[in-house]
Amino acid sequence: MLQHNPADHGPDPDGNGTTELWQSLDNAHHLHPFTVHHELRDKNPRVMTHGKGVYLWDSDGNKILDGMAGLWCTQLGYGVEELADVASASMKELSYYNLFFQTTTPNAAKLSALIAEKTPAGLDQIFFASSGSEANDSAIKFIWYYWNLKGKPNKKAIISRDKSYHGTTVAAASMTGLPFMHDIFDLPLPQMKHVGPTPHFYAYGHEGESEAQFAERCAQAVEDKILELGPDNVAAFIGEPVMGAGGLMIPPEGYWPRVEAICKKYDVLLWSDEVICGFGRTDNWFGCQTYGFTPDIITMAKGLSSGYIPISAVALNDEIATTIANADSEMAHGFTYSGHPVACAVAIRNIQLLEEFDLIGEAGKTTSDYFQQKLAELGDHPLVGQTRGIGKLGAIELVKDKPTKTRFDPEGHAGMTCRQFCFDNGVIMRAVDDTMFLSPPLVIKPEEVDELFALVRKSLDDTHKALMSA
Ligand SMILES: Cc1ncc(COP(=O)(O)O)c(C=O)c1O
Repeated sequence: MLQHNPADHGPDPDGNGTTELWQSLDNAHHLHPFTVHHELRDKNPRVMTHGKGVYLWDSDGNKILDGMAGLWCTQLGYGVEELADVASASMKELSYYNLFFQTTTPNAAKLSALIAEKTPAGLDQIFFASSGSEANDSAIKFIWYYWNLKGKPNKKAIISRDKSYHGTTVAAASMTGLPFMHDIFDLPLPQMKHVGPTPHFYAYGHEGESEAQFAERCAQAVEDKILELGPDNVAAFIGEPVMGAGGLMIPPEGYWPRVEAICKKYDVLLWSDEVICGFGRTDNWFGCQTYGFTPDIITMAKGLSSGYIPISAVALNDEIATTIANADSEMAHGFTYSGHPVACAVAIRNIQLLEEFDLIGEAGKTTSDYFQQKLAELGDHPLVGQTRGIGKLGAIELVKDKPTKTRFDPEGHAGMTCRQFCFDNGVIMRAVDDTMFLSPPLVIKPEEVDELFALVRKSLDDTHKALMSA
């Protein structure tokens, strides 16, 4: 571990706690997301206490470079005082009010207009929720309601991809294409249909197949699924522009425009889940802009507030929004915290700062190019079968044998080993099976990119040594 330097440790936020105290309270009372609890309790959780810029500190004073922007969300990095000040001022002015009783707030009105400015033309109507999963569940209801209003009540199936990740609420988890998130909960819901192959050439491309042929095969599978279900039964197709939690998979060239054309052909709504890609992750406001398609629905969260406060949103195109707006039935959906005034205030300032720092313009792109160059340089490492990335997203495949793409046995062990070495070396990378992810805060500076990749290379060296001597 990097040693604690009192100069950059900052104040203890609680004043008198100890690592042991927090761990014992946590072990006694706290159920964590996505965790095998008895394992965690045997080894104790790491206690993260504060952050500044791209760095975090744990309760033992270790300084850690966050290569994952938390969970792909802290676009502006940690400890931006302006966001804290905006939250504080907003809380003092109007700590809460709801949007149910034919009421709005200045912040909700302003944020909806600001988001509509950034979304592709025609997606101008915004609904607020608090998490990516809530936004996705809301969008499902809007889609079903829309088709009911259009007199096509059979259009209920929603097609998503194998290995996609769309969240954990009942409906969002059902769309997610990861069976381990279904089996223990008796999911998926029957309306949710999954399609493969996953558009990830390295893993699913056939011997001798070109990337363009692979893109065509993946898009054709979507068309086949629509035809199998019957176009009159299919409401929407949902996809992350770059698939995130399922393996950070970059779509093959030409895939998205083909899928867009197929959805249009069969009157199937196209839905871009931008919970990761939104707000600059791929160097545009939204990933659909990077990949050249225009969805009917966008869902967003994470980067909308740089993770400073929970807020998410659904953007609907004018046709869907107008159909819903003109209906006589009440749109009986919404949350206590839809458009929370403090969350909206933080999101507005977050968007303004993303613009002021030019993080989704030339300056951001220049750093992304450097990030991608350093990522590609890891390709020479003996453990690295492939690197891939776009914007400030990067993936590293750990393999035993590069030409045959053979993995270490058991699968996932290399990834877990590498993840642990990363923590020991003072950097955070996420591992899914044997794929390592990078998604640093957008504010990362070139010298921090150098530091990031030096720590990543050291962690790969340590992992290689450990796996070879096992
Ligand atoms: C693409 C995508 N959609 C939805 C979600 C769910 O968001 P949340 O965890 O805020 O519910 C995530 C979370 O990582 C995500 O990556």
